Amino acid sequence: MASALDTVFPPPTGVSLPGPRVPLCELSTPRTLWTMRHNLLEMWPAHYYRALRLHRRLLGCDHFLFNDPADIDQLLIAHRERYQREPTARRLLQPIVGRGLFAVEGEEWRRQRRGLAPAFQSRHIDRLIPRFHQQAVQMIARWGSHHQQQRNLLRDFRALALAIAGRAMFSIEDEARTGALGVLIEGYERSTSRLGWRDYLALGGWTGVRQAADREAFRQRWQSWAAAMSDSRPAIGDLDAADDLLDLLRAVRDESTGAPLAQDEIVDQIGTMMAAGFVTTAVALFWIAVMLALHPEHQEALRDELTSDDAGSPPHPAALRAARLCQAFVYETLRLYPPVFAVTRLAMADDRIGTVEIRRGSIIIVAPWVLHRHEAHWTSPLLFDPARFIHDGRVHVPKAWMPFGAGPRICIGMAFALSEIQVVLRLMLQRFRVTLAGPCPRPVGRFALAPDVEPLFELTRR
Ligand code: HEM
Repeated sequence: MASALDTVFPPPTGVSLPGPRVPLCELSTPRTLWTMRHNLLEMWPAHYYRALRLHRRLLGCDHFLFNDPADIDQLLIAHRERYQREPTARRLLQPIVGRGLFAVEGEEWRRQRRGLAPAFQSRHIDRLIPRFHQQAVQMIARWGSHHQQQRNLLRDFRALALAIAGRAMFSIEDEARTGALGVLIEGYERSTSRLGWRDYLALGGWTGVRQAADREAFRQRWQSWAAAMSDSRPAIGDLDAADDLLDLLRAVRDESTGAPLAQDEIVDQIGTMMAAGFVTTAVALFWIAVMLALHPEHQEALRDELTSDDAGSPPHPAALRAARLCQAFVYETLRLYPPVFAVTRLAMADDRIGTVEIRRGSIIIVAPWVLHRHEAHWTSPLLFDPARFIHDGRVHVPKAWMPFGAGPRICIGMAFALSEIQVVLRLMLQRFRVTLAGPCPRPVGRFALAPDVEPLFELTRR
């Protein structure tokens, strides 16, 4: 039954959305390797968006892609102990995450996740909302008082997400230290933006392949930066006295021994949160801005919902939770433009998923990019239609929607990211109308879902 809320969203206009070139058939191995260096999204041919289970061999290894949520539940939940992170993903993240939460497995992962989970509970995230708001206010203040201006929002959102990560996680207040952090992280991104020959060897199953010199140099710089930041903080006794994530990490005690986390573990967790949380959120905000620009009618609907309270002060957490049109708009953008477009695993044992026999050593792919555009799961999958997430006045999330992954290893920062996005979106819509000043960018699958060019947006004060 349709509710009043179902009718608030404007009907889909059918505007054509930017997408990658989709090959008509499976690419040859050399072509696949070339495509992997340039745009991973272009590896998946048209029939991947119709089939539920796909298999191919690449460099002597079986690769499976699963598109059925029931199979994905088996992989990521019921049989999860039979799978680990796939070595190439771990390899690309290793210089920054070391042995942090993202990289570890089994008992070590359970110990770390239990220790970190309290920092990501909603009561802590709600306490961060004023910090998100303040950083967004500062970004907009830097834009000046022009009635109309053109901005590179990708760059602005990267700086904002970095400042928010620095502020909310590590209480870095000053611009100089945020800038230094940005330069460090850019060095990491440069060193991992393309696969090198060593990565291909690792992909082919060679173990013990060293990282390239620039990644090793980054690792050393990162370790000394993060260790210095952790050392410069006074000791903290318990979780409730913690002011940010770093405090929480320093207050974590081992359940059996009561020992605090070792210095190098804290350094690796800091790196993990930066690597997993900063670019992903910036990219999500960027694609949200693109969708706003392509759908002016939605801007009005969201503005009406989000601007009912005072823009000058931070939003109340309950108001954010009640902003259902905004949530649906964000969910629909994350459906079509998931920043983490593929999640990969390595089979550590023989297994059977649905009807598929999987041998130890196979690579398993769950690709939100493909799943979210799959013809079996979505009506008119290439249409931007936030109303598909609203039923009977409530936001409803279908099983095939998983931009944050699924199962016990689901993104620990999901609530953090969604709150941050809503706070920024609210402030931006309260102040500006957003349009694109040039052609629409196309998505490119690299570390996260990047655009092929950094477009200028036109911002007009309201
Ligand atoms: C829109 C923003 C974000 C998206 C789309 C996103 C997406 C994801 C996905 C898909 C995974 C699961 C990977 C897998 O199963 O292999 C993941 C894991 C993770 N994310 Fe996020 N993430 C976002 C923001 C954040 C933020 C803000 C943080 C930290 C503050 C964060 C921290 C992590 C960590 C630590 C993991 C690993 C969890 C584990 O292995 O137990 N993420 N993220």
